[in-house]
Amino acid sequence: EKQGFKHFMLKEIYEQPGVVRACLEAYLDEGWSADQQKSPVTMAIAPALLADLQHIQIVACGTSWHASLVGKHLLEQLAGIPTSVHYASEFRYAPPPLMPNTLTIGVTQSGETADTLAALEMEQKRRSESPEAADQPRLLGITNRPESSLGRLLPHIIDTHAGIEIGVAATKTFSAQLMAFYVLALELAYQRQTLTPARLEEIVTAMRQLPAQMELVLESQERYIEELAHEFSETQDFIFIGRGINYPIALEGALKLKEISYIHAEGYPAGEMKHGPIALLDEKVPVVAIAAPGSVYEKVLSNAQEAKARDAQLIGVAPMNDADAEETFDSLLPVPVVDELLSPVLTVIPLQLLAYHIAARRGLDVDQPRNLAKSVTVE
Ligand code: M6R
Repeated sequence: EKQGFKHFMLKEIYEQPGVVRACLEAYLDEGWSADQQKSPVTMAIAPALLADLQHIQIVACGTSWHASLVGKHLLEQLAGIPTSVHYASEFRYAPPPLMPNTLTIGVTQSGETADTLAALEMEQKRRSESPEAADQPRLLGITNRPESSLGRLLPHIIDTHAGIEIGVAATKTFSAQLMAFYVLALELAYQRQTLTPARLEEIVTAMRQLPAQMELVLESQERYIEELAHEFSETQDFIFIGRGINYPIALEGALKLKEISYIHAEGYPAGEMKHGPIALLDEKVPVVAIAAPGSVYEKVLSNAQEAKARDAQLIGVAPMNDADAEETFDSLLPVPVVDELLSPVLTVIPLQLLAYHIAARRGLDVDQPRNLAKSVTVE
C-alpha cells in the first residue's frame, strides 16, 4: 500500500535510504576494517566467475543500462578491468567479437525484460559453442527478482534487496543496482589489489554514511523541489548534463522526466554540449547540471556557465554551502559532499523528485505512464 504517499513512486523514492541500508547489511562485513587483511565483502560470488578476468561486458535496458554505466566507471576505476556496456537490444544482433576471460553481466530489476534475457541466452550459447571463448561461459545476473526468468536462466545471481517496486519509473531498484556494482567493484579491487587498504577502508566507511545522507537530501529538499516543479510544469524541453560518474545520472534524470511527465529531455556528457546540443539552448530550455565535487567539478561548472551565457535557466545538483555553486546556478538542489565515486547515490535523488513533482503537478498518472509497462516482456 501507499502508506500515506500520493503515489507509489514517491513512496519508493523515500524507501531508498532503507534499501541502501539493507544492501550494505547484506553485502558488507559489518565489523570489517582494513587491518584484518580480508575482503570487506560478504556477498557470495562464485570465485570461478571472477578469476583472471580481462574484460567485463554488461547488457541491460533503460534505467538498468544507466546503472550499468555507473558500474562500468567503478569496475574500471576501482578494479582496473576494461568494461563495456551494451543495450541488450543492440547486443543481440551485433555482439562484439568473443574474447576469453570475459564476465558477462545482465542487469534487469524485473528479471523479465525480453531483450536482456535474449541477449544473455545468445551469449551463453555462443560462448559454450565457441573454442575462441576458451573458458566456460561466465554469466552473472543482477536483479531484484531472483525468482524471475533471469533467475532460472543464470546459475549466478546478485539479489538487489529493494523489495517489490510498483511505480513504472524505476527508483529504488536503481539505487540497489548501484550498491551491487559498488560491492562487486570493491571485491574485485580487493582480489586484484588495485586499491590500498587505506583507500578501501575510506570507501567502505563512506558507503556506510550514505543512508543518513540520503535521508538528509529527502528531508531537506522535497518542499523546495515541489515549488520549483511548479515553475517548470509547462516547459517543453529540458537538458541534463553531467560528467564522469555523474554522466549516467544526467541520462537517468532525463529518462525519469520523459517517461512520467512526457516532457522532452536529453542527457549529455557536459563536455559534448559545445559539439552541437548547445545550439538548442535559449531562455525556454532549462539546463540541469550535476556538479559533484571531485575530478570534473570545475569543468561541469564552466560547462554550466556556457549554458547560462545562452540564457538557459540553470538548475544545479551541487554541494551544500559552496560559493561557486551558489553563484553559478539559478536554483540549487544541494547534496552533501561525498567521495566523488559515491556521489551518484545522492545526486539521483533530487532528479527523481523533480521528475515526480513535475509529473504530479501536470496531473499525470505517475505510477502508470502512458505507453509503458513495468516489465517489457516483448522484443
Ligand atoms: O526490469 P528492467 O530493469 O530490465 O527494465 C528495464 C527498463 O525497461 C526500465 O528500466 C525502464 O527504462 C524503466 N521504466 C525506467 O524507469
